[in-house]
Amino acid sequence: MTSTAASTLVIIPTYNEIENLPLITGRVRKANPEVHILIVDDNSPDGTGQKADELAAKDEAFHVLHREGKGGLLGAYIAGFEWGLERDYAVLCEMDADGSHAPEQLPKLLAEIDRGADLVIGSRYIPGGETVNWPASREYLSRLGNLYISAALGAGLADMTAGYRAFRRELLEHLDFEDLSRAGYIFQVDVAFRAVKDGFDVREVPITFTERELGESKLDGSFVKDSLLEVTKWGVAHRSEQAQELYKEVSGLVRRTVKDLDVEERAETAINGAKDFGAELSKLVKRQLKQR
Ligand code: GDD
Ligand code: MN
Repeated sequence: MTSTAASTLVIIPTYNEIENLPLITGRVRKANPEVHILIVDDNSPDGTGQKADELAAKDEAFHVLHREGKGGLLGAYIAGFEWGLERDYAVLCEMDADGSHAPEQLPKLLAEIDRGADLVIGSRYIPGGETVNWPASREYLSRLGNLYISAALGAGLADMTAGYRAFRRELLEHLDFEDLSRAGYIFQVDVAFRAVKDGFDVREVPITFTERELGESKLDGSFVKDSLLEVTKWGVAHRSEQAQELYKEVSGLVRRTVKDLDVEERAETAINGAKDFGAELSKLVKRQLKQR
């Protein structure tokens, strides 16, 4: 166990995760005996909040924050970060309650903090990273989204939408939470981009992301379009004319790639399509960068 683990808080937001709650917290405890846990529950109708209180009553390192109603993932994390920053935790982590983020891999994230990182992202899209039990269409969308984000922002990160993270407290103290983008889960991208721009040490470690078996996802479809639009705006502001050119070429590429594929029926082709798309995109970005 590293010295970091002893002053680490793992924040787990929950909304209707009553079956997953004991499983995930049990795994965190077993794999990382020294870390503290904070559940941030948004008054889940299924009673997750009460269940959390019962678990907390038996464990000094287990805390629960109750919010009035479903206020979104960013709101839950802001409340959790503020709670942790008021206490003396040196490292604060984000983890899903549904088992997608393996607590057994947390030591890998914390080890990179120990080596000097300010933010460590558990990445599906660097060598060694993977997704398990995701339909090919969902993986395709997520890969494509991340390729696009990476090209538009040029932040040098492969998985900027990922939600398995460890933060050094100094980075969280630096961020202006009220200023973060609130559309869907795009704040994850926003936070990573700001950290890179402001000179913090941001690193990725490969993780295995396993789709939930119990309960339901809270992500809705409009998120994808809204998010990509939002990212394009930041990219444009940050990289000016080059980014606008890039956006034109990239949206052409996306249209051509997607038109040629029936994502549901031809899963393998879809993944290969995303890889080809990625290769083309990286050539494009290199060309753009040379022109500066
Ligand atoms: N308190 C609270 N309030 N918790 C919430 C809310 C909310 O409004 N919405 C979602 N959660 C909790 C869920 O209970 C779960 O623990 C976690 O947030 C993630 O929610 P999911 O619904 O399982 O998200 P997902 O699997 O679709 O999205 C994952 O992938 C995204 C893209 O990579 C997450 O890992 C996201 O963080 C990630 O951005
Ligand atoms: Mn999930």
